[in-house]
Amino acid sequence: MSHIVVVTGSVRPQSVNQKVVPIVVEEVEKQGATVSVADLAELNLTFFNAPKSPNDPEFEVTNEAVQKWTDMVEGADAVVFVAPEYNHSLSAVQLNAIDWIGKQWNGKAIGLVGYGWNGGKEALVAARNALSRELAAKVSEVETTLFFTKDLSPAGELIEDKASREAIAKTVASVIA
Ligand SMILES: Cc1cc2nc3c(=O)[nH]c(=O)nc-3n(C[C@H](O)[C@H](O)[C@H](O)COP(=O)(O)O)c2cc1C
Repeated sequence: MSHIVVVTGSVRPQSVNQKVVPIVVEEVEKQGATVSVADLAELNLTFFNAPKSPNDPEFEVTNEAVQKWTDMVEGADAVVFVAPEYNHSLSAVQLNAIDWIGKQWNGKAIGLVGYGWNGGKEALVAARNALSRELAAKVSEVETTLFFTKDLSPAGELIEDKASREAIAKTVASVIA
Protein backbone atom coordinates (compact mmCIF):
# COMPACT_ATOMS: atom_id res chain seq x y z
CA MET A 1 0.00 0.00 0.00
CA SER A 2 1.30 3.45 -0.91
CA HIS A 3 1.80 6.10 1.73
CA ILE A 4 1.13 9.71 0.69
CA VAL A 5 2.15 12.83 2.56
CA VAL A 6 -0.02 15.89 1.90
CA VAL A 7 1.80 19.17 2.61
CA THR A 8 -0.12 22.26 3.73
CA GLY A 9 0.79 25.60 2.15
CA SER A 10 -0.46 28.33 4.45
CA VAL A 11 -0.16 29.21 8.11
CA ARG A 12 -2.87 31.87 7.86
CA PRO A 13 -5.87 31.55 10.21
CA GLN A 14 -8.98 30.50 8.23
CA SER A 15 -6.83 29.79 5.19
CA VAL A 16 -8.29 28.29 2.03
CA ASN A 17 -5.64 25.62 2.52
CA GLN A 18 -7.50 24.29 5.55
CA LYS A 19 -10.51 23.64 3.28
CA VAL A 20 -8.60 22.10 0.36
CA VAL A 21 -6.25 19.80 2.28
CA PRO A 22 -9.07 17.56 3.68
CA ILE A 23 -10.46 17.13 0.16
CA VAL A 24 -7.05 15.96 -1.07
CA VAL A 25 -6.79 13.62 1.94
CA GLU A 26 -10.23 12.18 1.12
CA GLU A 27 -9.27 11.57 -2.49
CA VAL A 28 -6.06 9.81 -1.41
CA GLU A 29 -8.00 7.57 0.98
CA LYS A 30 -10.56 6.72 -1.71
CA GLN A 31 -7.69 5.38 -3.80
CA GLY A 32 -6.66 3.00 -1.03
CA ALA A 33 -3.42 4.70 0.03
CA THR A 34 -2.53 5.70 3.56
CA VAL A 35 -2.05 9.40 4.17
CA SER A 36 -0.55 11.79 6.66
CA VAL A 37 -0.59 15.58 6.63
CA ALA A 38 2.62 17.57 7.01
CA ASP A 39 1.13 20.63 8.70
CA LEU A 40 3.69 23.39 8.22
CA ALA A 41 2.03 25.54 10.91
CA GLU A 42 2.47 22.72 13.40
CA LEU A 43 5.99 21.77 12.23
CA ASN A 44 6.99 25.44 12.52
CA LEU A 45 10.26 25.01 10.61
CA THR A 46 12.70 27.83 11.14
CA PHE A 47 13.75 29.77 8.04
CA PHE A 48 16.58 27.88 6.41
CA ASN A 49 19.69 28.71 8.42
CA ALA A 50 21.97 25.66 8.09
CA PRO A 51 25.62 26.34 7.26
CA LYS A 52 25.56 23.77 4.43
CA SER A 53 23.08 23.04 1.68
CA PRO A 54 20.98 19.89 2.30
CA ASN A 55 22.55 18.40 -0.82
CA ASP A 56 26.05 18.84 0.64
CA PRO A 57 27.48 15.58 2.05
CA GLU A 58 28.41 17.50 5.20
CA PHE A 59 24.85 18.74 5.79
CA GLU A 60 23.58 17.73 9.23
CA VAL A 61 20.08 17.99 10.61
CA THR A 62 20.35 19.49 14.08
CA ASN A 63 16.76 20.52 14.56
CA GLU A 64 13.90 18.28 15.72
CA ALA A 65 11.27 19.84 13.44
CA VAL A 66 13.50 19.52 10.38
CA GLN A 67 14.20 15.88 11.29
CA LYS A 68 10.47 15.17 11.62
CA TRP A 69 9.74 16.81 8.24
CA THR A 70 12.66 14.98 6.58
CA ASP A 71 11.46 11.64 7.99
CA MET A 72 7.96 12.30 6.64
CA VAL A 73 9.29 12.94 3.13
CA GLU A 74 11.67 9.98 3.30
CA GLY A 75 8.88 7.63 4.41
CA ALA A 76 6.43 8.76 1.73
CA ASP A 77 5.94 7.02 -1.60
CA ALA A 78 4.65 10.33 -2.89
CA VAL A 79 4.21 13.87 -1.63
CA VAL A 80 1.31 16.13 -2.64
CA PHE A 81 1.66 19.89 -2.19
CA VAL A 82 -1.50 21.94 -1.71
CA ALA A 83 -0.16 25.25 -2.93
CA PRO A 84 -1.70 28.72 -2.75
CA GLU A 85 -0.27 31.34 -5.08
CA TYR A 86 1.46 34.17 -3.24
CA ASN A 87 2.99 36.99 -5.29
CA HIS A 88 3.10 34.83 -8.42
CA SER A 89 5.05 32.13 -6.62
CA LEU A 90 4.84 29.51 -3.89
CA SER A 91 4.08 30.58 -0.34
CA ALA A 92 7.28 31.27 1.60
CA VAL A 93 6.42 28.61 4.16
CA GLN A 94 6.19 25.94 1.47
CA LEU A 95 9.34 27.01 -0.35
CA ASN A 96 11.21 27.04 2.96
CA ALA A 97 10.03 23.49 3.67
CA ILE A 98 11.32 22.40 0.25
CA ASP A 99 14.66 24.12 0.89
CA TRP A 100 15.27 22.13 4.08
CA ILE A 101 15.51 18.81 2.25
CA GLY A 102 18.06 17.56 -0.27
CA LYS A 103 18.57 13.95 -1.29
CA GLN A 104 15.16 12.76 -0.02
CA TRP A 105 13.57 14.66 -2.94
CA ASN A 106 15.67 12.75 -5.45
CA GLY A 107 13.29 10.54 -7.46
CA LYS A 108 10.33 11.26 -5.15
CA ALA A 109 6.92 11.27 -6.84
CA ILE A 110 5.30 14.68 -6.38
CA GLY A 111 1.73 15.83 -7.02
CA LEU A 112 0.72 19.49 -7.20
CA VAL A 113 -2.67 20.97 -6.31
CA GLY A 114 -2.70 24.75 -6.73
CA TYR A 115 -5.28 27.45 -6.21
CA GLY A 116 -5.58 31.17 -6.74
CA TRP A 117 -7.11 33.74 -9.07
CA ASN A 118 -5.41 32.06 -12.02
CA GLY A 119 -5.57 28.55 -10.62
CA GLY A 120 -2.35 28.93 -8.66
CA LYS A 121 -0.49 28.18 -11.88
CA GLU A 122 2.53 30.30 -11.02
CA ALA A 123 2.86 28.67 -7.62
CA LEU A 124 2.99 25.34 -9.41
CA VAL A 125 5.63 26.59 -11.85
CA ALA A 126 7.77 27.62 -8.87
CA ALA A 127 7.22 24.25 -7.18
CA ARG A 128 8.08 22.41 -10.37
CA ASN A 129 11.25 24.46 -10.88
CA ALA A 130 12.47 23.82 -7.35
CA LEU A 131 11.52 20.17 -7.06
CA SER A 132 12.04 18.91 -10.55
CA ARG A 133 14.80 21.04 -12.07
CA GLU A 134 16.89 21.51 -8.96
CA LEU A 135 16.10 18.63 -6.62
CA ALA A 136 15.50 15.80 -9.13
CA ALA A 137 12.04 14.88 -7.87
CA LYS A 138 9.56 13.30 -10.29
CA VAL A 139 6.86 15.94 -10.48
CA SER A 140 3.68 14.64 -12.12
CA GLU A 141 2.50 16.46 -15.23
CA VAL A 142 -1.06 15.83 -14.04
CA GLU A 143 -1.45 18.90 -11.85
CA THR A 144 -4.64 20.42 -10.46
CA THR A 145 -5.36 24.16 -10.78
CA LEU A 146 -8.37 25.43 -8.84
CA PHE A 147 -9.55 28.87 -9.97
CA PHE A 148 -11.14 31.30 -7.54
CA THR A 149 -14.74 32.09 -8.48
CA LYS A 150 -14.91 29.21 -10.98
CA ASP A 151 -13.88 26.11 -9.01
CA LEU A 152 -13.44 27.50 -5.52
CA SER A 153 -14.79 30.53 -3.66
CA PRO A 154 -12.08 32.85 -2.29
CA ALA A 155 -13.13 31.54 1.14
CA GLY A 156 -12.29 28.00 0.04
CA GLU A 157 -15.69 26.44 -0.62
CA LEU A 158 -15.82 24.17 -3.66
CA ILE A 159 -18.08 25.59 -6.39
CA GLU A 160 -17.35 23.01 -9.10
CA ASP A 161 -17.45 20.17 -6.61
CA LYS A 162 -17.44 17.20 -8.98
CA ALA A 163 -14.94 18.54 -11.51
CA SER A 164 -12.55 19.77 -8.81
CA ARG A 165 -12.61 16.47 -6.95
CA GLU A 166 -12.07 14.61 -10.22
CA ALA A 167 -9.07 16.81 -11.04
CA ILE A 168 -7.58 16.21 -7.58
CA ALA A 169 -8.26 12.47 -7.90
CA LYS A 170 -6.37 12.41 -11.22
CA THR A 171 -3.36 14.20 -9.70
CA VAL A 172 -3.39 11.76 -6.78
CA ALA A 173 -3.75 8.74 -9.06
CA SER A 174 -0.81 9.90 -11.16
CA VAL A 175 1.54 9.85 -8.15
CA ILE A 176 0.20 6.62 -6.68
CA ALA A 177 0.84 4.99 -10.04
C1 LIG B 1 0.77 38.31 0.17
C2 LIG B 1 -0.24 37.73 -0.79
C3 LIG B 1 0.08 37.62 -2.12
C4 LIG B 1 -0.84 37.06 -3.02
N1 LIG B 1 -0.50 36.92 -4.31
C5 LIG B 1 -1.34 36.27 -5.16
C6 LIG B 1 -0.95 36.01 -6.49
O1 LIG B 1 0.12 36.34 -6.94
N2 LIG B 1 -1.82 35.33 -7.28
C7 LIG B 1 -3.06 34.92 -6.83
O2 LIG B 1 -3.80 34.31 -7.58
N3 LIG B 1 -3.44 35.17 -5.56
C8 LIG B 1 -2.63 35.83 -4.72
N4 LIG B 1 -2.99 36.07 -3.44
C9 LIG B 1 -4.31 35.62 -3.01
C10 LIG B 1 -4.18 34.26 -2.37
O3 LIG B 1 -4.04 33.24 -3.34
C11 LIG B 1 -5.41 33.99 -1.52
O4 LIG B 1 -5.45 34.93 -0.47
C12 LIG B 1 -5.41 32.59 -0.94
O5 LIG B 1 -6.59 32.44 -0.17
C13 LIG B 1 -4.17 32.33 -0.11
O6 LIG B 1 -4.17 31.02 0.34
P1 LIG B 1 -4.51 30.66 1.86
O7 LIG B 1 -5.93 31.20 2.13
O8 LIG B 1 -4.49 29.19 1.92
O9 LIG B 1 -3.51 31.35 2.72
C14 LIG B 1 -2.10 36.64 -2.54
C15 LIG B 1 -2.41 36.75 -1.18
C16 LIG B 1 -1.49 37.30 -0.30
C17 LIG B 1 -1.84 37.39 1.17
